Amino acid sequence: MRSLINILDFSPEELQQLIDVANDIIAHPGDYRERCRGKKLATLFFEPSTRTRLSFEAAMYELGGNVIGFSEAQSSSAAKGESVADTAKVISCYADIIAMRHPRDGAPLVAAMNASIPVINAGDGGHNHPTQTLADLLTIYREKGRFDRLTVGLCGDLKYGRTVHSLISALSRYPGVRFVLISPEELKLPSYVKKEVLAVHGIPYEQTEDLEAAMPALDILYMTRIQRERFPDPTEYERLKDSYILTPEKLKAAKEDLCILHPLPRVNEISVAVDKDPRACYFKQVLNGKYMRMALILRLLEGMEEAPAPEEEIVADLICDNPRCIVQTEQELPQAFRCTNRERKIFRCVYCESKRILKGE
Ligand code: CP
Repeated sequence: MRSLINILDFSPEELQQLIDVANDIIAHPGDYRERCRGKKLATLFFEPSTRTRLSFEAAMYELGGNVIGFSEAQSSSAAKGESVADTAKVISCYADIIAMRHPRDGAPLVAAMNASIPVINAGDGGHNHPTQTLADLLTIYREKGRFDRLTVGLCGDLKYGRTVHSLISALSRYPGVRFVLISPEELKLPSYVKKEVLAVHGIPYEQTEDLEAAMPALDILYMTRIQRERFPDPTEYERLKDSYILTPEKLKAAKEDLCILHPLPRVNEISVAVDKDPRACYFKQVLNGKYMRMALILRLLEGMEEAPAPEEEIVADLICDNPRCIVQTEQELPQAFRCTNRERKIFRCVYCESKRILKGE
């Protein structure tokens, strides 16, 4: 049984199949109205959401299915201390598929390990947001007709921005992609993404704080919100929150066929005046997210072929110290680290991907 926890769980071929299904849904919506008749989607949202939760719900209704769920942790038994693992086992008795958002990195993986139905990661902490990446990919494909040979600018909070991490992972598998990473020093892309995604795939990138200087080279500009909820120190958020504001003036130097994306919600990092620009694709991206979630629900419920199990060394004698990791709060969840660099003895927590270096031997 397949789940979607990390965008890399799906091969480029499987992503292309989802895009083909989504395009077919757009062209022939009537053919899909009964495809999930009698099936139930459970939306387990332990963190706020507008787009992701409601687009999952709209997707399931448009496929003829039903939806159960909750939209905040306080209205679930998590408020009484129920674990993610038990929640997943319980929901498996009621529904056919789960979409879960959780503030802790790795929580949907723990759900998938314990559920007997497919689990979709609808955003876990500052870690990953693979279904947002599905929306991003369909939008890029429909606007550009390809994923290769693109210069992609990512602007804003590249440190905590889970949508950015998932999109970089997805696009790094296509030839000729290069990234321009535009952020304040304090919100630079984590080094593990640079070393273990960009470097591993030989993807060129540059880092800059200057959005306007980067603008002329870009085919895609992916703006992101500075996320108040991820900052341990609120004064740091106040200092950085208005680092980038995209305006019509700043777009004068951009390509005529630039594609401007934003996972939304925006606060003020894109001026409302930009919405009229034909290059603004972020509301199309919202709609595309619904179609890709329809395609994903269909494929997972059909029973996608199992992916080959990766050959990897897992060790349990390291301790994850990421305070946002699910291992800090989940009862009796074993520590588990996978080796990502045998020579340098680098291990990463399987739940949150935090790094540990194994000392001695
Ligand atoms: N893009 C996104 O995840 O939006 P929501 O937080 O509203 O779901």
